Amino acid sequence: MALKLGFLASHEGSNFQAILDACRADALDAEPRVLISNNSSAPVIERARRAGVPAIHLSAHTHPDPTALDAAILRVLMEHEVDVVVLAGYMKKLGPRVLKHFHGRVLNIHPALLPKFGGVGMYGRYVHEAVLKAGEKVTGATVHLVTEEYDQGPAIAQREVPVVADDTPDTLAARVLEVEHALFVDTLARIARGEITLLSPNLSKT
Ligand code: GRF
Repeated sequence: MALKLGFLASHEGSNFQAILDACRADALDAEPRVLISNNSSAPVIERARRAGVPAIHLSAHTHPDPTALDAAILRVLMEHEVDVVVLAGYMKKLGPRVLKHFHGRVLNIHPALLPKFGGVGMYGRYVHEAVLKAGEKVTGATVHLVTEEYDQGPAIAQREVPVVADDTPDTLAARVLEVEHALFVDTLARIARGEITLLSPNLSKT
C-alpha cells in the first residue's frame, strides 16, 4: 500500500533526503519512485543516485519549449506510476499539464507560516530576511497543495519555529529547515495512513 512519490528538486535536497531516510527506516509507508531536477549539477541528483532512485534532468536546456517540458515531466511521473508529487526545493513552476493531471496531489514545502512571507520572490534566504525585518517572534514551515500561483494553494500542515534575539537569516534558516524535514515526513506519513485525504480519489495503491 506504499504511496508512490515523485520528487522535483533544484538544489541540495535535504528534504528529499529526510523523506528517503524515513522510507528506508519504515517510518513512512512510501516509495520514492523518481527524482526530476532542472539542475543537472544539483547535489540532490547524487543523493538520488546513491539511493538507487532514478534521477532525471529535465529543464529548459533539455526541452526549450515549455509545453514540451511540461509534457516530458508528466510522462516521467506517469511512467513511474507516481501517486503524489513532492516539490522539495523546486525553483521552477510546474506546467499546466502536470498540474491538471496531478490536481490536488502536488505538495510543496515553504519555509514560513503561509500566507505570511509567501509569493513571488519569497524563497530561500529572502524569506528569513523578511521575517527578521518584520520583527516576527515566531516563524515556521508550511506544507501546502500546489496551484498555478506561487504559495497560494491550501495549507495542509504547519509547524511553528521560534525566532530568537540574535538570529541571522542563516541561523533562522537552519532552525526552520530541521522542522521542515520533520513536518514533511510527518505530513506524508499522515497521507499514507489515510489521515489526510488528498483531493484526487484515484491514488493508485500497490
Ligand atoms: C527549503 O527551505 C524549502 O522550504 C524550500 O527550498 C528549500 C529546499 O531545501 N522550498 P533542500 O533542497 O530540501 O535542502
